[in-house]
Amino acid sequence: MSGHILITGGTGNTGRRIAARLGELGVSARVASRAASGSDHVVFDWADPSTHAPALSGVDRVYLIAPGMVEDPSTLMLPFLERALASGVGRFVLLSSSAIPEGAPGLGTVDRFLRERAPGFAILKPSWFMQNFVEPRHPHAASLIGEGKVVTSTGAGRVGFVDADDIAEVAVRALVDETSHDTAHVITGPEALTYAEVAAILERVTGRPMRHEHVDDDEARRRLTAAGMPEPYAALLVGLDIAIRDGAEDRVTDTVLRVTGRAPRSFEAFARAHARVFRG
Ligand SMILES: NC(=O)c1ccc[n+]([C@@H]2O[C@H](COP(=O)([O-])OP(=O)(O)OC[C@H]3O[C@@H](n4cnc5c(N)ncnc54)[C@H](OP(=O)(O)O)[C@@H]3O)[C@@H](O)[C@H]2O)c1
Repeated sequence: MSGHILITGGTGNTGRRIAARLGELGVSARVASRAASGSDHVVFDWADPSTHAPALSGVDRVYLIAPGMVEDPSTLMLPFLERALASGVGRFVLLSSSAIPEGAPGLGTVDRFLRERAPGFAILKPSWFMQNFVEPRHPHAASLIGEGKVVTSTGAGRVGFVDADDIAEVAVRALVDETSHDTAHVITGPEALTYAEVAAILERVTGRPMRHEHVDDDEARRRLTAAGMPEPYAALLVGLDIAIRDGAEDRVTDTVLRVTGRAPRSFEAFARAHARVFRG
């Protein structure tokens, strides 16, 4: 493979794993984020178009993560994608979400743009990340580690929680495989779990009491905004809880095994690997 891979969000959950894996494979990659910190890093800000051309120089494939906390990320992403196509990028791998249908307002329009315009593409639609429970910035991690409870309005709804390592491995295949995947991949772990089941696994693995607290939608939103989340984003997250409660995420797929050749990690294995974090 000639040329560079540009990894937007290259310091984040999936991006840093992809960068490390590409390094192991000897594939040339450039890590993009707002704070560059190494020779293979480049300053890149979705909101600052002057950073786009330097990031794209010599690049033929791009891993795309939407700018966070933005109501409609497509307004920042589509002009960048036009520029990337004009500069010769031939393949795009977009991190979307299992909860976002193609063509839906916002990131869904980026899916559609890539399907219609990109020479090669893959849309990654992961379910909820297992890392939400250990990322200190995430509200689930904060309440689990601090108070031994996870608070949602998901009721008994199930989620196919997936490890970011598995998502990154699918992304790497989509970036480096000789033939572009040209499809959407719904990515889950090996089982769909309720938050109560997640808490029970964590309690068993850590020996610390853990539980799920179901609250109504208004209370869930109030808690998120009290923790500093902007109101529209909190409303969006509560909308996702409602969808989970209604069964939208109750599924598992064979994507990780099919695309990478290895089985996805279970939540129990993830919990064992991170037990020390939960013990505080
Ligand atoms: N968590 C889940 O359960 C879940 C499930 C499905 C889909 N997703 C999707 O996953 C995505 C997040 O991916 P992730 O967890 O890998 O990333 P992440 O850990 O949230 O990190 C975000 C990355 O984007 C960079 N970034 C943030 N704002 C930027 C900006 N304005 N311009 C350029 N770079 C910027 C950050 O670096 P700097 O701050 O240094 O710029 C960082 O590298 C979201 O689109 C989310 O919808 C998440």
